[in-house]
Amino acid sequence: MSKSRAFKLEIIKFSKDFLLATRLLQVFAPLNKLFFFLYNFNQLTSWVHKNKKEKYLMNDFYRSKRNYDDRLKSFEAIVRHYGMAEAPIAYLEFGVAAGYSFRWWMAECKNANAGFYGFDTFEGLPEKWGMFAKGDMSYGIPVLEDKRAHFYKGFFQDTLNNFLFAEGNGLRGRRKIIHLDADLFTATIFALSQLYPYLEKGDIIMFDEFSVYDHEFMAFKIFTESFYMNLKPISAQNNFYHAAFEVV
Ligand SMILES: C[S@@+](CC[C@H](N)C(=O)[O-])C[C@H]1O[C@@H](n2cnc3c(N)ncnc32)[C@H](O)[C@@H]1O
Repeated sequence: MSKSRAFKLEIIKFSKDFLLATRLLQVFAPLNKLFFFLYNFNQLTSWVHKNKKEKYLMNDFYRSKRNYDDRLKSFEAIVRHYGMAEAPIAYLEFGVAAGYSFRWWMAECKNANAGFYGFDTFEGLPEKWGMFAKGDMSYGIPVLEDKRAHFYKGFFQDTLNNFLFAEGNGLRGRRKIIHLDADLFTATIFALSQLYPYLEKGDIIMFDEFSVYDHEFMAFKIFTESFYMNLKPISAQNNFYHAAFEVV
């Protein structure tokens, strides 16, 4: 190593140790949330503007008023485009709540060999999320007649690995639709990182609250960057609040 490089390294090491020992930067601690917001929201803004011109099945960016139910238009376009209505898909939903979106997918995808797997605490959110308190969205396990539905109760952190150990091989070679609707960063990053070894080209990953900069978007960014994962955006609704991707 050259002398000047070694000198620079010494300066960097000394500065870091000095800041750690003196706690000098803690004077800025009251601004942590602001810096966090600025950094992450700017990341989201850059991502949206970089990706908004991709070829989408549908993309309504920019619209002045959101309509949450427009996510169903995305679902419909995806089912049609990928011919899922009669295919033996594996639909995995992370965050089922009362089962509204889960029922929608079961009603649209009619193949008798399709499998529908729903993961939830069924006792509500494990953490506060925005205006929602811990425990909100507690509805119990939905009661469905359709034998293709399977529910896994508990934190994903406790249920997903057992599921993958038992059923993971059966997911290979089938188109998987992974619907991430747990809202939280923790739940989303956990689900994505565990599902990673099972992801195959042509699988679809949908984020219900993609543009929430400190939750699903942050999980998306960390996941794609840490796992060198290439996800192609295919559909976006409500200014990227809802976004779907294909594994390529
Ligand atoms: C917005 S709701 C799901 C709505 C549903 N997909 C729909 O569209 O009808 C979010 C759900 O995620 C669940 N959830 C969040 N984090 C979780 C975790 N770590 N483990 C299990 N369930 C979780 C909550 O219990 C809640 O029911």
